[in-house]
Amino acid sequence: MNHGALPNVLVDRFGRKVDYIRLSITDRCDFRCVYCMSEDVQFLPRDEVLSLEECARLVKAFVSLGVKKVRITGGEPLVRKDALWLFNEIGHLQGLNELVVTTNGSQLEHQAQALKKAGVRRINISLDSLDAARFHQITRVGDLDKVMRGIAAAKQAGFERIKLNALLMRGRNEDEAIPLVAFAVEQGLDIAFIEEMPLGVVSHDRESSYVSNHGTLKLLRARYDLIGSIETTGGPARYWRVPNTDTRVGFISPHSHNFCESCNRVRISSKGEMYLCLGQENKVDLAPLLRNFPNDNQPLKEAIINSMQVKPKGHDFNLKRVEPAVIRFMSHTGG
Ligand code: 5AD
Ligand code: SF4
Repeated sequence: MNHGALPNVLVDRFGRKVDYIRLSITDRCDFRCVYCMSEDVQFLPRDEVLSLEECARLVKAFVSLGVKKVRITGGEPLVRKDALWLFNEIGHLQGLNELVVTTNGSQLEHQAQALKKAGVRRINISLDSLDAARFHQITRVGDLDKVMRGIAAAKQAGFERIKLNALLMRGRNEDEAIPLVAFAVEQGLDIAFIEEMPLGVVSHDRESSYVSNHGTLKLLRARYDLIGSIETTGGPARYWRVPNTDTRVGFISPHSHNFCESCNRVRISSKGEMYLCLGQENKVDLAPLLRNFPNDNQPLKEAIINSMQVKPKGHDFNLKRVEPAVIRFMSHTGG
């Protein structure tokens, strides 16, 4: 018997199968990370943001077209009121193999268990520093203790995997690669290092803060006998294993490693715009299709299928460019 595997009809002009969506359910966040937002960021008016019912409808439409993995992101998804309703609504959809969430951890202390129960299998928690004062500087407002309690709650809840996401910046936390990996090992977690991407204009100079994963890997290999791994989690990260531990160390390197040829994803902003590439402007606005056809998913599905014709071949990030390649922030399209 075929256990709910739905045919994938989302294939682009380059033969890439799209079976993964990242949906931002809010552009708001309780943190203000220096690489992500300006301090006086203006959030969208609430009526421009999709309702959670619309988010659920979108996810169901994508899953009916063969999408097997859904990541809920933000902003900070767990600060959205009733976010758990959405997780419960989509957590056990037939055909959806993996429901995952990316969070800054600030709400996990209270929500980890409910997320697990709703069907969330894996969780990514951003953690850029183990030093409370630095953590506060990087996030501008964040409380490290609260995030640590969130990580503990996530471990307690029993997710299949918990992955830390760390972004290193010169002059701020570039010396924390080894301590962060040591923490991941001690806690039995995975960790991925993400290179800073020029998404949106922020108050620091991205070129001088940029730390390449190439250098980070070199540093870590001097300390750990990392074992190259062919495992992937369906994403652009390349993984290494720390011997005799459960920990994998990943590197997400949009600059030094071109992963576009295996791109299997699209992103949907909290306004319902479907972006076909992280580094390009090509998008299709799905909100009018949700709103003008409240009881008919056909126009929505057709638009999604047709969008495959405009998915770009790849992106081109260049830190030296005066204008960022893409004006939108990660918090808009959801990482
Ligand atoms: N470049 C790279 N990663 C970013 N994030 C936010 N903004 C950027 C950026 N400009 C990452 C954070 C977090 C995840 C949700 O998105 O590091 O871990
Ligand atoms: Fe919030 Fe994540 Fe952006 Fe930090 S990186 S401000 S936690 S959305």
